[in-house]
Amino acid sequence: MISNSQCDSGISFVGCGSSTPQKIINNDQLGQRVDTNNEWIQSRTGISERRVIGDNESLIDLATDAALKAIRMANWDVKTIDLIILATSTPEDLFGSAPKIQSNLEASNAVAFDLTAACSGFLFALVTASQYLISGSMKRVVVIGADQLSKWVDWDDRKTCVLFGDGAGAVAIETSGEKNGLIGYDMKSDGSKGGCLNLSQANTFLDLVQGATHQKGEYLPIKMEGKEVYKFAVKEVPIILGELLDKYKIDSESIDWLLLHQANQRILDAVASRFSIPSEKVLSNLKDYGNTSAATIPLMLDEAVRGQRIKSGDLVACSGFGAGLSWGAALFYWHGPY
Ligand code: ACO
Repeated sequence: MISNSQCDSGISFVGCGSSTPQKIINNDQLGQRVDTNNEWIQSRTGISERRVIGDNESLIDLATDAALKAIRMANWDVKTIDLIILATSTPEDLFGSAPKIQSNLEASNAVAFDLTAACSGFLFALVTASQYLISGSMKRVVVIGADQLSKWVDWDDRKTCVLFGDGAGAVAIETSGEKNGLIGYDMKSDGSKGGCLNLSQANTFLDLVQGATHQKGEYLPIKMEGKEVYKFAVKEVPIILGELLDKYKIDSESIDWLLLHQANQRILDAVASRFSIPSEKVLSNLKDYGNTSAATIPLMLDEAVRGQRIKSGDLVACSGFGAGLSWGAALFYWHGPY
């Protein structure tokens, strides 16, 4: 599916929040479990440590906390929220975890649902939310990206276990008469390459009644062809971002911040170099969290806003990419209070 749309009516980014687990696992600790080491992980990925949800935490708790922080920054009454979208590939309930977050927030007038698009999930959810705002059918939306990939990683597979971590981030967006925050976006999928990165069902069939079996509901750990995903990312992200910049006649020098899905520092550097964006404008917190899937973009945004790097009026060039394969990009102005 290809869509590329200009947003004529205004959307304003007015709040953000994030939340991460307490438990930190560093590279040396992983080296005690699998045949890896700090030098390999840091030089190939930029990751030093990641956080993992432990005994007294849950994905829903993190997502609720991140959403609450975004709502507080926006200074909203929770009763004025129309919609909550949770981008996740790791819900606590396959029927959806967003309604539980809606209930935790006491956002009784909001409808809530999950959206799954792996590491592109937050960006796809943001674009989905924007459609309700542009159409005028809703006024205030919370978009959450939250994932607990630690549940689904094979902790004995050094090719994947060093990459991922858990976390949550959220943004509060609303219709705006005067400021249009979302300049434009694009989203793409290529299911023919989906086998490069999966968290797929196990094919276990059990007897149901005589002559009939049923499939047991269970999933296999994450499998990834890292090199293929890497090549896909460094090829497609510059193309989709470049097309957006051309479409809206924005010079890459005007970009205040490059905010990419945090998968690998080498991917961030390659995309930045393609647009001659200096490293001080490239947002990265990979070192501290690794790849938190749908959470990376709002988690990074929140850290940069609260750390007073991203300021009101700054132009952010954003891109998410990952399993599906799927990828997308958005250009937006941050209009929050910081
Ligand atoms: N420690 C030590 N050695 C390792 C490790 C490790 N943790 N992992 C792999 N190696 C070894 C391999 O076995 C291989 O050894 P060999 O040459 O003897 O066979 C060697 O290191 C090189 O392995 P590569 O896989 O070729 O390493 P590469 O430089 O490609 O880096 C990486 C791997 C980091 C996974 C990289 O390919 C990457 O970042 N890919 C993109 C991932 C991504 O962007 N995912 C995004 C989406 S995630 C989502 O949607 C949920």
